Amino acid sequence: MKKQISPSMMCVDFMNIAADLATMEKHGIEYLHIDIMDGEFVNNYTLGTDFCKVMKKNSSIPLDIHLMIEKPENKLSWFEFGEGDYVSVHYESTKHIQRALQQIKQRGAKPMIALNPATPLEVLEWVLPDIDAVLLMTVNPGFAGQKLVPQTLEKITACRKFLDERGYTNVEIEVDGNVSFENARKMSDAGADIFVAGSSSMFAKDITLDEGIEKLREAIK
Ligand code: DX5
Ligand code: ZN
Repeated sequence: MKKQISPSMMCVDFMNIAADLATMEKHGIEYLHIDIMDGEFVNNYTLGTDFCKVMKKNSSIPLDIHLMIEKPENKLSWFEFGEGDYVSVHYESTKHIQRALQQIKQRGAKPMIALNPATPLEVLEWVLPDIDAVLLMTVNPGFAGQKLVPQTLEKITACRKFLDERGYTNVEIEVDGNVSFENARKMSDAGADIFVAGSSSMFAKDITLDEGIEKLREAIK
């Protein structure tokens, strides 16, 4: 499967966002990763409904909305998304994960199920027909700038195997958290397809956005 980059938009320089979007479009960036937090599922607030709306209106890059919110099935209608966009909901955030995934599909978007580092892969078993991708958190969700939870590398390999053995070879794996250039290479070798690029790579302080994108592409090749 094609290796894709999804920049974590909470890490973007908000004073320079139009120019950064143009740079991302020039490089053929595949998705815009938008973290939505509610202060309940995780202890933080970041981006929201209006940010998704503005990105949809002003960029041709499909969205990759990551909902870190309680009971997402009751709130999906607040968000603007559609065909070509990914929307991820956390297994741990609701008793009705299948309903949430179904709602995303009904809106014409691509459902993705997100798993925290400690959540077993077995929870995927009965939602396989309902998903286009699995988001494996490689840090505990909520904050940028954290260190990789090391055993999640092995979880990527195990997840690819789990999906392939059941015939779901087209279900993609996204990784989110401390996707540094070094970790990205290991994650890619383990079978990750979509890389959420944050403060550890594309938006690192010591490089330009152009350099960061080129270096990440090289790492996941
Ligand atoms: C949370 C976020 C973070 C972060 C990724 O879901 O997506 O994981 O922005 O960037 P890093 O970990 O590189 O700061
Ligand atoms: Zn995220």
